[in-house]
Amino acid sequence: MSAEIRRAAEILRAGGLVAFPTETVYGLGADASSAAAVARLYAAKQRPADHPVIVHFADAAHAFEWAREVPEGARRLAARFWPGPLTLVLKRSAKAKDFVTGGQDTIALRVPVHPVAQALLREFGGGVAAPSANLYGRVSPTTAAHVREDLGAAVDLVLEGGPSEVGIESAIVDLSSGAPVLLRPGKIGIGEIEKALGQKLVSKTTASPRHSGGLERHYAPRTRARLVAPHELDREIAARGAAVAVLAFSRPDERVDFWIRMPRDPGRYAQRLYAALRELDGAGCGLILIESPPEEAEWAAVRDRLAKATA
Ligand code: TXA
Ligand code: MG
Repeated sequence: MSAEIRRAAEILRAGGLVAFPTETVYGLGADASSAAAVARLYAAKQRPADHPVIVHFADAAHAFEWAREVPEGARRLAARFWPGPLTLVLKRSAKAKDFVTGGQDTIALRVPVHPVAQALLREFGGGVAAPSANLYGRVSPTTAAHVREDLGAAVDLVLEGGPSEVGIESAIVDLSSGAPVLLRPGKIGIGEIEKALGQKLVSKTTASPRHSGGLERHYAPRTRARLVAPHELDREIAARGAAVAVLAFSRPDERVDFWIRMPRDPGRYAQRLYAALRELDGAGCGLILIESPPEEAEWAAVRDRLAKATA
């Protein structure tokens, strides 16, 4: 156990804020049992108090203590995907207080696999409330530098863990009421989740629990961003020229100064997406044009984040 992890756990016990790497994005952590610590967390993010947060644990046994009912489906998903980029919403136990659930009767639980997150969660022992470590509504951080950019002095310690491997937030499955609902798509595909569950998922549009990831404009750069079909890209650039920044699959166009070429593999695209959006956001252009990714199911999570970034 490194001295830094011990110090991080001490800060959490004292009610402080520790940003830490996970395989999805960096989280801003606080003791999930402390009302004062969670209040500081919301203040640092400038996040509305009625938005629930995900509580993180070292393993499923600890996580399920925060649920009063663990349906068979939750056990299956936990056995298959934890530790990993999946969050489960279950009926809360008495351990999950109103200040982490936003007053709802459910709790979001996650067991990350990143070694630094695992070390911190083991050393701390309890549940760590951790939304993505960005300002409310902005693009999630995938490096420690992104966290410092957004939150700076509001955080007591930022643990370094390299660039996040997955790059987009965990998939969220709500198992708190009958049919399982996919609240947020992630790296783990719908097909994989349904296979492990032995059951179909209901899409989130037919249910409406409160979750900030479902708000219209979210995960968004400050610069206006727009999705364009591949065949429209050339026309858009011709009309606007150097006034735009572009995120696309194709090679850079001479007329555009700020261009990031993205991988054609959805996993590698997701990994690079938020850092790319931050970079283009910093270019000082009036508009970011984003070439629409393919319609295939494997692009669902990327399409979801792009839709929110451009809403
Ligand atoms: O990958 C992730 O999940 C990252 C890392 C840090 O673990 N965390 C993350 O947290 O994305 P945050 O707070 O940025 O997003 C949490 C999402 C929000 O959409 C929130 O509303 C939803 O989870 N959520 C939390 N509790 C919920 C609940 N009880 N019912 C429904 N949605 C819930
Ligand atoms: Mg977030």
